[in-house]
Amino acid sequence: MSAEHRAPQSKSPDNKVYIFDTTLRDGEQCPGASLRNHEKLLIARKLAALNVDIIEAGFPFSSPGDFESVKQIATEIQGPTICGLSRATPQDIEATWDAVRYAQKPRIHTFIGTSDIHIQAKFKKTRQEILNIARDMVALAASKCPDVEFSAEDAGRTDPFYLYKVIEAVIDAGARTVNIPDTVGYTIPDEFGRLIKGIMTNVPNIDKAIISVHCHNDLGLATANSIAGIQNGARQVECTINGIGERAGNAAMEEVVMALKVRPEYFEGIYTDIESVHFAEASKMVSELTSMPVQYNKAIVGRNAFAHESGIHQDGFLKGRSTYEIMMPEWIGLSESYLPLGPRSGRAAVKARLEKLGLVVQDAQMPQFFEQFKQLADEQKRVEDDDLKRLYEQILASA
Ligand code: KIV
Ligand code: ZN
Repeated sequence: MSAEHRAPQSKSPDNKVYIFDTTLRDGEQCPGASLRNHEKLLIARKLAALNVDIIEAGFPFSSPGDFESVKQIATEIQGPTICGLSRATPQDIEATWDAVRYAQKPRIHTFIGTSDIHIQAKFKKTRQEILNIARDMVALAASKCPDVEFSAEDAGRTDPFYLYKVIEAVIDAGARTVNIPDTVGYTIPDEFGRLIKGIMTNVPNIDKAIISVHCHNDLGLATANSIAGIQNGARQVECTINGIGERAGNAAMEEVVMALKVRPEYFEGIYTDIESVHFAEASKMVSELTSMPVQYNKAIVGRNAFAHESGIHQDGFLKGRSTYEIMMPEWIGLSESYLPLGPRSGRAAVKARLEKLGLVVQDAQMPQFFEQFKQLADEQKRVEDDDLKRLYEQILASA
């Protein structure tokens, strides 16, 4: 059934997907991306403008600088919940609480690895010991902070039956959100979706918590896995601007949010509260401050995401933009789409650019103008406005 024939969906609270931004924690963890505290504050303000639900501002125990930054963001940023990360240890949890307690809405996020690889290689403990630590540290965090999130690190490679037990225990101990990270970006969308469905079906107290997903992009599947999680019951997505994060990064917030926004009929009423018009600016800010360029063909925010190069596409776009565009550039805060002029551009795009520049080439002169344009385009690869003006003056002079 097409979108036009559907009754408008009302916004049911059960259908809201909470957006948990971790640009300042997982994003900042990636090689070369470290930020100064005043830069983190600028990004936090932009995240608040985007209307994210939760900002993971840092890892307070990891350094005095990170502690101060989380505390500053907790004190100054109004609106979103402010969260700090802690390993499942009392010192980490104390430090996180000391930093986030200044927020209107503070959250402690504590985590421990639950896959056998982590339990044996990292912790040299038994499954039962890890479950006990998870439960006890969640209880400690809940004794300080009303909002506690627990992450089962490497959940994507954890035995699901053990995972169900850990989740049940941490919910009983006071976790309001349980995060299921695909820490090493190993899972495939259908498989990850089934993991989330299994949790929704097999954990008896699951109705007392929100299930979150946190997908890494090692196989380029972070967005697809996050969407599969949502389709199977997850209602929080952890993500970053431009998808930055450990190794190949995290799910990109702009991709997850725009997928839900562009295909509402497909997702049947599932929504976020993100103000997507801030994506272009947020992407530029994060890229500049972290010195991490955005790849030109990056979905949503890449330089080419709203650029149409070939003559066939340019002609189609000029006849009706929906021929080649599935969303409006204005939705992410860009003023317009872009038709770069190059060797593959056709007459329609050249004429449209001339009109935009206020230059009138008579129909009789157009074949000659277009021939010269093509020659220049072959030589230069890109024809800019100044080049067009020069060609125009030459044509006038030769008339
Ligand atoms: O990738 C991961 O598992 C994490 C956790 C700390 C949530 O970043
Ligand atoms: Zn991560």
